[in-house]
Amino acid sequence: MNILLLGSGGREHAFAWKIVQSPDCSNLYVAPGNAGTADIATNVSLGITDFEAIKNFILAKEIGLVVVGPEEPLVKGIVDFLQNQPETAAVPVVGPSQLGATLEGSKDFSKRFMMRNGVPTAAYETFTASELEEGLSYLEKQKLPIVLKADGLAAGKGVLICLTLEEAKSSLKEMLLDQKFGEASSKVVIEEFLTGIELSVFVATDGKNYKILPEAKDYKRIGEGDTGLNTGGMGAVSPVIFADEAFMRKVEERVVKPTVEGLSKEGIPYKGFLFIGLMNNNGDPFVIEYNVRMGDPETEAVLPRITSDFLGLLKGIATGTLANYNLEISKDYATTVVMVSGGYPGSYEKGFPISLPKEHSGSVIFHAGTAFNSQGELTNQGGRVLAITGQGKTLAEALNHAFSTVNSITWNKAYFRKDIGQDILKLNR
Ligand code: AMP
Ligand code: GLY
Repeated sequence: MNILLLGSGGREHAFAWKIVQSPDCSNLYVAPGNAGTADIATNVSLGITDFEAIKNFILAKEIGLVVVGPEEPLVKGIVDFLQNQPETAAVPVVGPSQLGATLEGSKDFSKRFMMRNGVPTAAYETFTASELEEGLSYLEKQKLPIVLKADGLAAGKGVLICLTLEEAKSSLKEMLLDQKFGEASSKVVIEEFLTGIELSVFVATDGKNYKILPEAKDYKRIGEGDTGLNTGGMGAVSPVIFADEAFMRKVEERVVKPTVEGLSKEGIPYKGFLFIGLMNNNGDPFVIEYNVRMGDPETEAVLPRITSDFLGLLKGIATGTLANYNLEISKDYATTVVMVSGGYPGSYEKGFPISLPKEHSGSVIFHAGTAFNSQGELTNQGGRVLAITGQGKTLAEALNHAFSTVNSITWNKAYFRKDIGQDILKLNR
């Protein structure tokens, strides 16, 4: 089978790494890919939202499965586009329909979906610019802190946690009137602040059946001790010690089942991954958000724990045959440390040569923002550059493997968080 994978991050390198291990993979193409995917597959320079070019490529290379990594093409409707073209209508695609992708593309849509389907989540109201006065008086009646969310996609920056009423009121005005997050904040969800410990649960679904993949915890802030600016993610750990069996059963009964049933009942076509951001509040799960794709860097910790054929899982999702797939998960730990360009998530310099160790047993090196320069040297070309996953029988062993590889890699101004996993290690004791 020839496969086309869209995306260029660490998540996509991890997908590619798993796919090429499958006996059913003939040719894997990654668009646009990175230096890591170039090593194990064929990179193609297609734009991930250039649907016409993607269609032509699918036909030219006789692609039998399309896998969409990031949210942008999904929210823009790539799945509907390919299904509506007679030539590509029969090609299986891993990814939800545009309506399904609205679970990530609009916070208001996803909150309404949760309410209709009885999925536990924070209490909320949504306001537009013409409802500013109502929004301000709603704020006066709420407890602090209070959470303000831009309705649309805002590159992970559209959530504000306001500690005072003044801050909340001025932020609401900035979002609605001054378009602080552009078009994304033309609607704002005002939401109750949830307390507890956060984790991410990943679900593969063909719209009717589902499989729960290993859960993970990520580290969003740039600085150690969860300080500083938000990033795409600086590390991940799987499994998560506080997500015990009793908690995961509640997640399945209260969150996963009603979500998948809701999609099916409401006629929302969804053949893809669903990433559920959860708060564990005294042992009860509350949904913070849905994403319609796998997480990055969580994927780099989750996929190494899947021991059954990953391409089989992808085919099950895309062809509606997930019920026949036997998912097998290793009990081992996986922990991912992301190495970034100095300055990220602000501005940073690109093009510094990176040297990778030949020997790095117990760990896998996933590439994100990497490319070869004209002399054939590996260089940093993005904010998040490498994601190093250590594996082990214990969390401590997995962390040792990850960090010993991280410590053997460097480039000018490289940065990483040394405290990934330390909080969980403490809970473990
Ligand atoms: P989101 O983009 O919805 O994932 O929000 C980004 C981050 O803001 C989440 O990962 C949480 O850490 C935090 N957050 C979002 N909503 C809430 C909430 N209702 N209560 C507490 N923290 C929240
Ligand atoms: N690591 C969080 C995300 O992928 O959105």
